[in-house]
Amino acid sequence: LKPVDLPLEGSGPLYEQLARSLKRAILEGRFAAGVRLPATRSLARTLGISRNTVIGAYELLCAEQLTSTRGGSGSWVTDIARQTFGTRSRGAVGPQSRYAARTRKLGPSTLAARKPQLRFDLHYGEPLLRPSLFRSWRRKLGAAALRAGPRYPDARGFPALRRSIAEYLARRRGISCTADDVQIVSGTQQALALVARVVLNEGDVAVLEDPHYQHLMHCLVAHGARIRGVRVDNEGLVVSELAKQKPRLVCVTPSHQFPSGAVMSLPRRMELLQFAASQGAWVFEDDYDSEFQYRRRPLPALRSLDLSDRVIYAGTFSKTLFPSLRLGFIVCPAGLREDLFKAKRLEDFGCPTIEQAALATFLQNRQFEKHLRKSVAELSRRRSVLIEGLQQHAADLIEIEDTGAGVHLIVWLKDTRYPQLERLLELAAKRELGLYPIHPYYQKPPARPGLLLGYAGLSDASIRVAAKLFGQCLRDL
Ligand SMILES: Cc1ncc(COP(=O)(O)O)c(C=O)c1O
Repeated sequence: LKPVDLPLEGSGPLYEQLARSLKRAILEGRFAAGVRLPATRSLARTLGISRNTVIGAYELLCAEQLTSTRGGSGSWVTDIARQTFGTRSRGAVGPQSRYAARTRKLGPSTLAARKPQLRFDLHYGEPLLRPSLFRSWRRKLGAAALRAGPRYPDARGFPALRRSIAEYLARRRGISCTADDVQIVSGTQQALALVARVVLNEGDVAVLEDPHYQHLMHCLVAHGARIRGVRVDNEGLVVSELAKQKPRLVCVTPSHQFPSGAVMSLPRRMELLQFAASQGAWVFEDDYDSEFQYRRRPLPALRSLDLSDRVIYAGTFSKTLFPSLRLGFIVCPAGLREDLFKAKRLEDFGCPTIEQAALATFLQNRQFEKHLRKSVAELSRRRSVLIEGLQQHAADLIEIEDTGAGVHLIVWLKDTRYPQLERLLELAAKRELGLYPIHPYYQKPPARPGLLLGYAGLSDASIRVAAKLFGQCLRDL
């Protein structure tokens, strides 16, 4: 026996490491049933460790019944350990379910593309960090922890939070609903997963806007829906193209189309509701960032026009607060309410109570709306700084699409072709500038390349530098 035969992996007390290594040797048949383990003194010498360590390891194996001490004369591998399972590789196996097979085919996630080490990272999805928000949030969490209690939560959501959301939606989004219609979820992602479960069978058609938010598409693909893209123009989803797809579910971002920025016009909204009502289709309204409008008041939600009760409204605190919170909500149509409640209960028994209770206080005392006002002012400034910087350093090379809303900008590259795009991203990364292309959000890449610039996570000063670096990179190209 040599030390390499009993490798120690380095974590935890030494006698436990040795016990695990011996256990593996026994299970692999290297110490067969009925064999006597090396004497403690000799094994200690071989491995260069103390005898007590070996004794400790042998005692553990004995407690696990892998060895026995016959009358105190050494440790013998028991018969139970005879059942060795061969040396079947613990490596890859094929997908074990249709779900797993579908998830294995999904493309890379745009979240995974983030380059976290870059100083000037224009990644979409970075939150606006206001230190005062986090101080206040910490106090709220502390107080909520005392109030919330240790029991299983109501899976539909913390009652005070459901109430505050219903009131908030009436005030800010024109939606009339009661707390009973609200299901608290862990973000839009879970909202769509639950909706898919209660309205779609495998093979049913779900329409997504083209372009669209990639993670919702992944959710529907994983569920087994057949995805159809319907294009978006400057009035939002081209509803007249829906009929030929015969969708059961239509996912839209009417307040601020992601990522193009179009706001769905009133005629289109009415056309979509008419379509859903007449065809028995469901509409998933993803209202992810409607609070961030810099030139006008946000339009009320699509759901506020929906007399036929076909719109499933999903809201999230990922943009208005921060995405690690993982809290959002569904306003459930009456016909789906109980199904959605059950789906959530089966999924996870409800969202964590402490965070929900803290958020309820935040909404109840209107601190949330105060925070929103400050965020809108801050984001609007950052947006202007970015636009000015881009105009100053790259005006002749790009076209900026400014919809006056949201937390990102789209920039189309005038003289750059797709093969050069990768090079541009590399040049940028060398200068610590994170740039991200927009074409992964499209079913078919647009004719010319573009970038999706998220600016919420950078200070004014960093945005100025980022714009300058961007101009330099384009010129170097
Ligand atoms: C279009 C769209 N919907 C929803 C979300 C938020 O998803 P979640 O609530 O799961 O964080 C985002 C976040 O970036 C988004 O861009």
